[in-house]
Amino acid sequence: MTADRPPSVQIAPSILAADFGRLAEEVRAAERAGAARIHVDVMDGRFVQEITLGPVVIQAVRRATTLLIDVHLMIVEPDRHLEAFAGAGATALAVHPEACPHLYQTVHRIRSLGLHPWVALNPATPLSAAEWVLGAVAGVLVMTVEPGSGGQPFIPEMLAKIRALAQVRLDRDLRFEIAVDGGIGPDTAPAAVDAGASVLVAGTAVFRAPDGIGPAVGRLRDSIRPMRRRP
Ligand code: DX5
Ligand code: ZN
Repeated sequence: MTADRPPSVQIAPSILAADFGRLAEEVRAAERAGAARIHVDVMDGRFVQEITLGPVVIQAVRRATTLLIDVHLMIVEPDRHLEAFAGAGATALAVHPEACPHLYQTVHRIRSLGLHPWVALNPATPLSAAEWVLGAVAGVLVMTVEPGSGGQPFIPEMLAKIRALAQVRLDRDLRFEIAVDGGIGPDTAPAAVDAGASVLVAGTAVFRAPDGIGPAVGRLRDSIRPMRRRP
């Protein structure tokens, strides 16, 4: 970690936009560039239309890096797969309340597997869907695009949700992280951090940059350089 970077805002490149033929190299390049965590989008063709990847790819990422691996489960019935993702080397599992009829139990099962439970909120999902589990989660992933694909534009209306979440965290003296996911780049990261985000998930901005992963992560970091997370 360099001295000039806000120590508590972390960059989490999303491998959805990576070159899967060179996945290990791309992950290592993100690590060298200063990423703190790797974000892995799991889609099952049911919770969202797209089908992406599963535990075997997470094993490959685990072999390539010692960074935290955040697994974003955009799947129905995630409870059936928690052990498999834990066994593959995930650090954190994010679940959507819509896919979890027993969200509290799911969150506690994730924790009992030794992982960090996160809850993910679709743009249309109100904060109240997660408010009652905020004391039990390690983080909240605020979707700033509709889940299902990369490369979509950031939805600015989500800034109010981030601010409300940061306020709840302050009011209740809780410690969970706030991540933003979707449309994050140097143009949108400052507003997200200013609203209270402490983890920036970025796929396209990191892995599709024409000048490479290192400069792309550098630009993201520079865009928030003078900023600090909210208390
Ligand atoms: C969208 C995924 C995101 C996606 C972000 O469903 O959850 O993690 O990879 O991609 P970009 O940064 O391209 O918007
Ligand atoms: Zn994601």
